[in-house]
Amino acid sequence: MPAKALIIAFAFRRKKIKSGELAAKFGVSRQYASRVLRELVAAGKLVKIGTTNATVYVLPGLGNTAEGRIEKRLSNKNLKEHEVFEDIASKATFMFSLSENLRSIFTYAFSEMLNNAIEHSGSKNIQIDVEKNDQTLAFHVNDFGVGVFRNIMRKRRLRSEVEAIQDLLKGKTTTQPKAHSGEGIFFTSKIADVFTLESHRHRLVIDNILEDIFLEELKPAKKGTKVTFRIAAASEKHLNDIFRKYQTDPTEYGFDKTEVQVKLYTMGTIHISRSQARRVLAGLEKFKSVILDFDHVPTVGQAFADEIFRVFKHRYPAIDIQPINMNEGVRFMVERVDKE
Ligand SMILES: Nc1ncnc2c1ncn2[C@@H]1O[C@H](COP(=O)(O)OP(=O)(O)OP(=O)(O)O)[C@@H](O)[C@H]1O
Ligand SMILES: [Mg+2]
Repeated sequence: MPAKALIIAFAFRRKKIKSGELAAKFGVSRQYASRVLRELVAAGKLVKIGTTNATVYVLPGLGNTAEGRIEKRLSNKNLKEHEVFEDIASKATFMFSLSENLRSIFTYAFSEMLNNAIEHSGSKNIQIDVEKNDQTLAFHVNDFGVGVFRNIMRKRRLRSEVEAIQDLLKGKTTTQPKAHSGEGIFFTSKIADVFTLESHRHRLVIDNILEDIFLEELKPAKKGTKVTFRIAAASEKHLNDIFRKYQTDPTEYGFDKTEVQVKLYTMGTIHISRSQARRVLAGLEKFKSVILDFDHVPTVGQAFADEIFRVFKHRYPAIDIQPINMNEGVRFMVERVDKE
């Protein structure tokens, strides 16, 4: 086995080393290499990051801590999200300090959002950055293409970007049904602590800490789409729990359950009408179970309640609609619907 100084020099050149690499380089067993690395860690010469197979050893104080930032501007030509991901993971040592659950959340969320920019935006360039500090892991995917809401509005012939946002939030809204299923933004926005989409004049914030959704006016307007994803570095969320939450059969994977925030359909009006109910219901026939969240909805019209709880129910008797967070007035309107 080489002198420890040689190993340190090797680590210095490579920025980070794994026990397997060390074993191969110096022709010793992996166990032996691991032992030497552990001794160097105990002596404060190297820092160990990660666990089991993902363990790497880095020099202390060379930007090799659990903090860091990486950014890239990519040309959107033959880009593959997994290659970009691997490139980042190999360059950003802080990635190795992520817990197992966070690593899979990041892999999923980042790949989905980058895939969207690659396949849907039509943008020539895509900017990405990833940042981690003691508190937070965050990333951005920024493109300069058609814009997520406008893309959906045009291809689905909707009247406004707000209608596109309403449909997008239900899930299973895709403009490329042959190759895509409309799940990426739905699940990524649910697993984040805070998820933001900015495009043209709209900023959509899904704040899972406050358990609320905000639609704000964006000034100045943003060309294309900017995604912001943020999650606590100590988050104990698991991707599978989120997938399971939106499936009616816990044993079999199938995205067949969704949630709709009725308040997003009642903005700027007090008259909550039958045509608004139809907007709420658009696309919900693709699900088996729907939670209708009436939080912050002061009142609904009789026709609104009738359209949802009688007309739609009659047409799709197998779909379960569960209203939640109703105030007195809304509950009165929903309960007086003649369900026969
Ligand atoms: N960066 C973007 N630029 C333009 N349109 C976008 C962008 N990201 C998403 N979209 C639009 O939003 C829709 C929904 O995106 P989402 O990721 O939820 O589903 P999908 O990509 O269609 O399917 P899946 O993610 O399941 O493969 C897309 O079909 C596309 O129309
Ligand atoms: Mg997608």
